[in-house]
Amino acid sequence: MTLATDWSTATWSPTSWQTKPALQQPSYPDARRVEEAVRELSLLPPLVTSWEIERLKGQLAEAARGERFLLQGGDCAESFEECTSPAITSKLKILLQMSLVLVHGARRRVTRVGRFAGQYAKPRSEDLETRDGVTLPSYRGDLINRMAFTAADRTPDPRLMLRGYERAALTINFIRALIDGGFADLHHPEYWDLDWVQHSPHADEYHRRVAAIRDSLHFLESLAGPQSGEINRVDYFTSHEALQLLYEQAQTRQVPRRAGWYNLSTHFPWLGMRTAQVGGAHVEYFRGIANPVAVKVGPAMTPDGLLELADVLDPQQEPGRLTFIHRFGHARIADKLPPLLDAVRRAGRTVLWVCDPMHGNTETLSNGYKTRRFENILTELEAAFDLHEQAGGQLGGVHFELTGDDVTECIGGARGIREDDLRRAYRSQVDPRLNYEQALEMALRIAERMAKTAGPSRNLNAI
Ligand code: PEP
Ligand code: CO
Repeated sequence: MTLATDWSTATWSPTSWQTKPALQQPSYPDARRVEEAVRELSLLPPLVTSWEIERLKGQLAEAARGERFLLQGGDCAESFEECTSPAITSKLKILLQMSLVLVHGARRRVTRVGRFAGQYAKPRSEDLETRDGVTLPSYRGDLINRMAFTAADRTPDPRLMLRGYERAALTINFIRALIDGGFADLHHPEYWDLDWVQHSPHADEYHRRVAAIRDSLHFLESLAGPQSGEINRVDYFTSHEALQLLYEQAQTRQVPRRAGWYNLSTHFPWLGMRTAQVGGAHVEYFRGIANPVAVKVGPAMTPDGLLELADVLDPQQEPGRLTFIHRFGHARIADKLPPLLDAVRRAGRTVLWVCDPMHGNTETLSNGYKTRRFENILTELEAAFDLHEQAGGQLGGVHFELTGDDVTECIGGARGIREDDLRRAYRSQVDPRLNYEQALEMALRIAERMAKTAGPSRNLNAI
């Protein structure tokens, strides 16, 4: 296949995407107000720094070489209303606890990346929604419009980009403060909520693993002192789907003493499955930024299409630059993944492969609830580990939609959540998330799987 454009020489700027077809963008009624909002956003300080972004890129390069593991997770969509202390701390807590479990199973350092501080825009399959004969624009996330079904709420409002930036700044500020404060006692497994374990056929294994993690942490603390050492200085990086390109453009900057342009609204933007067309506006925007970038890869992706994307997004084959997050569904991964792994290997490329076992396993029940089954999620993940291994490589990370709270959105897990339970605490406005117990159980199951291929047991040397 020949490329219509010579990507290596085509000029790029933070606004060059505007000359390409842009999918999933809102239509704002007033162009002048859009311009004002973008100008204002362009003058506000950045949310992250280029040196944090480069540090993450270095860690992703290690993960691509099999020396680290990536844990990426958070809400399908953040909402402005849920920018609260309990919501943020519970998300950090579950990611931290899962990462401890994974370090232990995988015997690899784990990099934690949240779907937070900017995950406010959602792709939609329909531009419009009709209820009782009334047709309005679809809800596209709090960055764009509001959920309530009135013309005023659904009309895209450019000022919401500024509100989103502010919410992201509040979130990131609180996360940084918690990290600087050492995150108190959260790393002590004795504070974990493990009541659900008694319902699990894996109870003994879980208790053994959690006890071993506790012993390792105590050992480290006795060496380093409780207030020092790496366990009190864990990193969290941020990521979101870079969908609303005006928002991304406004935070794309040059920084002193570094070449290139950085998206300083997040460390690690990803390109959604619906907007990953070569020749489209999103790929155009992504190719010019210096951040590490991820692309969601669904069942329609061909080996040629994937290699073309890799050529456009990572022409220099820079370590840590490119991550592919595959999301096929448990029934299709065995067919879809191997040809892609083969193509990338033959091209001599090293990329980071991550499995998102959520988005290919969504179903709508007869009672109207959108859900995912714990067993299907786990089946896809286990298949991903096996298929990467069979192809001579390895799965370098996992990507979940989860929350630290006690919601009932996904079916299954040790507690046995059933269809009828979903109504009890179904809170997601978009996709169903694993709750605290399901997320921790998932980490324990993955850790078991990873322990099979990891080297001999040794103490946690870093989290
Ligand atoms: C998402 O991650 O919320 C999402 C919409 O994913 P995908 O682009 O893989 O469908
Ligand atoms: Co989602």
